[in-house]
Amino acid sequence: MSGHDASGIDYGTYLRLPELLSLQTPQSSPEHPDELLFIVVHQASELWFKVLRHEMDTLISALEAFDTMRSLLAVQRVNVLTDIIAQQLSSLDTLPPQRFAQFRGYLGSSSGSQSAQFRAIEATAGLRDPHFLAAISEHGSPPPEVEAALTRPTLQSLVLALLKHEQVELDALYTGPAPTPLFLLVEGLLEFEQRFARWRFLHVQLVERIIGPGTGGTGGTLGAKYLARTVSQRFFPELWAVRANFYGR
Ligand code: HEM
Repeated sequence: MSGHDASGIDYGTYLRLPELLSLQTPQSSPEHPDELLFIVVHQASELWFKVLRHEMDTLISALEAFDTMRSLLAVQRVNVLTDIIAQQLSSLDTLPPQRFAQFRGYLGSSSGSQSAQFRAIEATAGLRDPHFLAAISEHGSPPPEVEAALTRPTLQSLVLALLKHEQVELDALYTGPAPTPLFLLVEGLLEFEQRFARWRFLHVQLVERIIGPGTGGTGGTLGAKYLARTVSQRFFPELWAVRANFYGR
């Protein structure tokens, strides 16, 4: 074993629980009983976004190294994490609209649309819409995590480069005799997009349920109407398009 002295470390110190559990500070006064859940679901989502970004970095390194099996393992983890993030939203389905209205005023202009990590995940995958990036940029430049994501190739271009390296055409993956690891990898990426879009759908439905379809967001958008439009965005248009080959164009 390693020679580290871990004798001073126990559960609470290892996980930094005193600090972690002191970071939830409801703004409502008197404190609204539902605000803690609202804060924790957002904070937990941001923690999972952190892990997701980390695992997407692992995926990118594996793709850059043309390592199909390591990429496959990474994409499987990315997909499970994306599901976990989506599932958490359901706890807020239990927040009745009249109760959210009691503390919404205390949120000021804070909105999930200002999440730098969310934009970094989108940018890493391949969505680099200048409109969103401008909205999140202070003094003209995006936050560092988004900036870092923008300097890298998109996931789609990395997987297409891997196919080229293996001298396999994308179309051929779908017409070959048996599923190969490369096929599973490409399908795994498509599944990431599908699960991410599922988060978008669950979120827009949550928003409609809690503030209604026509209410504007605290971030200044049209609310659910704006969010519904984001559901059809695509990270990997070429991976979706290849399916149409079987039906002519
Ligand atoms: C009561 C629950 C929630 C409501 C009513 C709500 C409402 C909204 C609204 C109206 C928007 C559109 C932007 C705006 O104008 O504000 C938005 C965006 C967003 N929200 Fe939520 N939200 C809720 C929960 C969550 C949770 C738990 C997360 C987890 C981090 C989250 C993350 C986001 C993100 C990332 C965006 C930007 C989405 C995009 O631009 O594609 N929201 N939210």
